[in-house]
Amino acid sequence: MLREAILAAARNGRIESVVTHAPVSRSVVRRFVGGADTAAAVEATRSLLADGLTVTLDHLGEDTTDRAQADSVAAAYFELLTALDTAGLTGRLGMLNSKTEVSVKLSAVGQALGADGEKIALEHARAICAAARAVNATVTLDMEDHTTTDSTLEILRQLRVDFPETGAVLQAYLRRTETDCRDLAHAGSRVRLCKGAYNEPESVAFTKRIDVDRSYVRCANALLAGDGYPMFATHDPRLVEILEDRAQHYGKTDFEMQMLYGIRPDEQRRLAAAGHQVRIYLPYGAQWYGYLMRRLAERPANLTFFARALATKG
Ligand code: FDA
Repeated sequence: MLREAILAAARNGRIESVVTHAPVSRSVVRRFVGGADTAAAVEATRSLLADGLTVTLDHLGEDTTDRAQADSVAAAYFELLTALDTAGLTGRLGMLNSKTEVSVKLSAVGQALGADGEKIALEHARAICAAARAVNATVTLDMEDHTTTDSTLEILRQLRVDFPETGAVLQAYLRRTETDCRDLAHAGSRVRLCKGAYNEPESVAFTKRIDVDRSYVRCANALLAGDGYPMFATHDPRLVEILEDRAQHYGKTDFEMQMLYGIRPDEQRRLAAAGHQVRIYLPYGAQWYGYLMRRLAERPANLTFFARALATKG
């Protein structure tokens, strides 16, 4: 119920306007979002790297409904990559991995723009991969709802011809994902495994929490048994424990853990101190409202934090 209410608020323009303009929002936003612009994102990145973490940055935007908007999202990534490089925050960690990378949603760079959408998204993604390569950074393609999975994996396949370092994302809640994990668990293949964040139908996805968790473990086993580079994205303490155990079982040391900015920050640092490579997903940009509301909906307990910030006018 509460989750539905928060998600409804996320779609309500009036609430958006109030929250976005409330001075108190700043401290809440600062917890979950790296800032409203490139300069703030660079500073947040600097601070995470100083703590021994690695970073993947996501430029937050509205739905991309025309070509000009897709172009401007790509331009935002070019600006970001240049700024990270100028600040000395980029660099390779081996052949296929980098300390700072960017996460790109293909829908934001045009994938949904009708018949030419895939072509436009591929062109933009290719240009972002080239800009990232030029500064020793990498790119991972975020995964969106299940109607886009085939298209996204096909664009990934084409990108990897020239940019084999491009990361994939697979969602454990989809019934197809265990097979996709086996297909992508080859040498040189970076694959982020997450539970999945969209409302998907029973026909294509596990909808019970326990089934999603079991699928996550099967998918993780498939990735750990392969020769690729798994990137385990979860805040779930039970899964983190299982992943450490399964990695040991397979004798796999070449993998990383990933979490969202502001979620379980102490655990992020604990894992890094324990010797894991940990990457923080750092969203930034002026369009932070929808992202923030989705994080609050995922865990209504975070509302306490929001309410406290409102009360103290932080
Ligand atoms: P889940 O939400 O089930 O939480 C499990 C447990 O984790 C909780 O019971 C609690 O103990 C702990 N926990 C969770 N949130 C907490 C909080 N705020 N504070 C304290 N404890 C908390 N999705 C997608 O569809 N496509 C994508 O490309 C990506 N990319 C992505 C990148 C990264 C780095 C991450 C971490 C996540 C994604 N996701 C994603 C989102 C993902 O699919 C999923 O929706 C969220 O990570 C939530 O799932 P968890 O695995 O964290 O467990």
